[in-house]
Amino acid sequence: MFPRSVRLLACAYVFLAFSAAHAPAGAASPDQITDEKVHARVAALLKQMTLEEKIGQLSQQFVFGKPDEVEDAVAKGQLGSLLFVTDPAVINQLQHVAVEKTRLHIPLIFGYDVIHGFRTIFPVPIGMAASWDPSVEEKGQTIAAQEASSVGINWAFAPMLDIARDPRWGRMVEGAGEDPYLGSAMAAAQVRGFQGPYIGSPEHILACMKHFAGYGAAEGGRDYDASYIPEDQMWNVYLQPFHAAVKAGVGSAMSAYMDLNDVPATGNRWLLEDVLRKDWGFNGFVVSDADAVKNLKTHGFAKDLSDAAVRGLNAGVDMEMSLGPGAYRQTLAAAVTGGKVTVAQIDEAAGRVLAAKIRLGLFEHPYVDEARSKQILAMPEHRTAERLAAERTAVLLRNEGHLLPLKPGANHSIAVIGPTADSQLDTLGSWAFQQDLNETVTLLTGIRSKAGAGTEVSYTSGVQIKRKFPSFFDQIFHVPPSPEWSPEQAAQEIQKAVDLARNSDVTILVLGEAQNMSGEAASRESLDLPGKEQQLLEAVAATGKPIVLVLMNGRPLDIRWASTHVPAILEAWYPGTQGGNAVADLLFGDAVPGGKLSFAWPRDAGQIPINYAHNTTFQPENQARRYWDEESTPLYPFGYGLSYSTFSFSNVKVSQPSVRVGQSLDVTADVENTGDTTADEVAQLYIHQQYGSTSRPVRVLKGFTRVTIPAHQKTTVRFPLTPEDLRYWSTATRDWVQDPSDFDVWVGGDSTADLHASFAVTP
Ligand code: BGC
Repeated sequence: MFPRSVRLLACAYVFLAFSAAHAPAGAASPDQITDEKVHARVAALLKQMTLEEKIGQLSQQFVFGKPDEVEDAVAKGQLGSLLFVTDPAVINQLQHVAVEKTRLHIPLIFGYDVIHGFRTIFPVPIGMAASWDPSVEEKGQTIAAQEASSVGINWAFAPMLDIARDPRWGRMVEGAGEDPYLGSAMAAAQVRGFQGPYIGSPEHILACMKHFAGYGAAEGGRDYDASYIPEDQMWNVYLQPFHAAVKAGVGSAMSAYMDLNDVPATGNRWLLEDVLRKDWGFNGFVVSDADAVKNLKTHGFAKDLSDAAVRGLNAGVDMEMSLGPGAYRQTLAAAVTGGKVTVAQIDEAAGRVLAAKIRLGLFEHPYVDEARSKQILAMPEHRTAERLAAERTAVLLRNEGHLLPLKPGANHSIAVIGPTADSQLDTLGSWAFQQDLNETVTLLTGIRSKAGAGTEVSYTSGVQIKRKFPSFFDQIFHVPPSPEWSPEQAAQEIQKAVDLARNSDVTILVLGEAQNMSGEAASRESLDLPGKEQQLLEAVAATGKPIVLVLMNGRPLDIRWASTHVPAILEAWYPGTQGGNAVADLLFGDAVPGGKLSFAWPRDAGQIPINYAHNTTFQPENQARRYWDEESTPLYPFGYGLSYSTFSFSNVKVSQPSVRVGQSLDVTADVENTGDTTADEVAQLYIHQQYGSTSRPVRVLKGFTRVTIPAHQKTTVRFPLTPEDLRYWSTATRDWVQDPSDFDVWVGGDSTADLHASFAVTP
């Protein structure tokens, strides 16, 4: 049905992707071990290994408590990897057991959830994506890798690449939002940050893209529940960031927990073999999510533990992550004897794990320098980089009457109000365990030190928010629940906050969610401000005094009331170790907000999903035919974010009015800073294919660049559009296609950009 050239293009693309996956991510280095040497060493090892030793390489276990609980299994070669050990002394102790006591001296690989930092905690990933600056991601994960590797961690269970279009899903906080193009850029940047120019680069670690794949589409936003994703959405949306990570050379992948179209991701051969290995040429190894192999029975998929192990391995899961002794460790040897899996399959899986250990240089350098780790973890430049990252991630949602930035010296008294404004833990976000809470700068502390001696800064929490309790990690780390206020005290505290606001020149109201209210197993059915926050907001606003609302959260919340009643709203996410200083820099104008939303912000949960790249149908202009009881547009569009300056876009041009299938073109536009402040704008390119083999979305992002422009100056941005940008997976052909068609192009500061041009693609 489609011209041969298009199909050839698709084949060429697969070939290129394959070559890229096998090529080192960066420039070749003399220190980098060659593929030939890796393969030879793997083959030599496998030749000497018993079946049990090979299965040991496929087994990974958590260590939450005492290391001696796993020592025996390590000494017997029954475990090839451990996770959640972070003390360098313990890592060395266990590594000595592996290297000295096992027959073949094979080192362990230590994994950990290094998601948004290790000791220096960076903004949560949904915030990092809001920087629209891949170099911020790359730098953040480079620092995280350096810190984690200094204690002996070799492997990060990140980046998390799940597209999230349902903010009820708590794990939205861990990803880059709703868009495959932005998500892909952030994915590749994180892989580069973790792994460096090649796997085994000094002070870098192995990355693990997760959760492969489709986890973000969990039904009802309920964590772990099944996903049903049509094939074209799978290819065009959900798989895109993973493919980008493979092209960037990611060394491992984690299979997801949930059912994908009725086949669990961890038992899904289509995902792990056909797509990941055959189509994309991924040559790393696959680890299951925690206990996901055993869960194949829970799904109603595997018959028993042994069947679960067989189906996991047959699907392409090389290593099983397990809370205790796993299904692989307990049953795979018998499965080989029983003819359910072959030794060749075990060799292939064990070979992939061993190859990663060889590439990482673990055989040569199994131990870690405990003294050096202390120096690395204390590096002040890591905190500076974190502060800059947090500044670049914040999104200014509203700024009526230029309330922000606060004028130095203009306010003699500032009220800081809100339950998380002085909470170190809540400044950090959901995947933070190795932080030093004492060095974490809360918003109150940051504002106090920025405001200076002449300004009185007073604080009260106003309300309590009931932390989600007990979360999985609260249980592990024995976090006690906080005592709840009585109704009388709750009323008094709100009154206290109102009085404080009334007696202050300006109020900074910090609302949102406690740190553990988003993340794993932290889905919500409503997007309401939690607890009595809405009541506090309205009571404080009723004073008529100027209010700046600062949000700390990992998902959009229902802020419809605030969006019309509060003059200034700054989305700060969970901004990390230096978060309070960064937010203070932004509030007082030492930094200018330039972040943009990586998702469309719904008015309330009833609008979900409301992603910008939707298709259009009957009477699109007739909005009342969508919802009669609420607008059908989001509160804030994808890509949106204000600045202390203003920008105007003009002069959009396409390099050619018409190109052939397979040819590239350029789009250029001018961006002018029309204000008095040097500031950043994120120029965004959207396209719309007017007709094709299937209906195409109203617009899709195909380019972006964050530029700093001095006041009253202009710059030209240029976006290349390649055939790859113009193709898509078509359900009509069940293949990648590039259609001859007419295209709209828009360039601007968010997904509602109206500066328009067009071009055609001819056969
Ligand atoms: C999560 C993964 C995480 C793993 C190890 C699982 O419950 O889904 O994202 O990497 O635990 O902590």
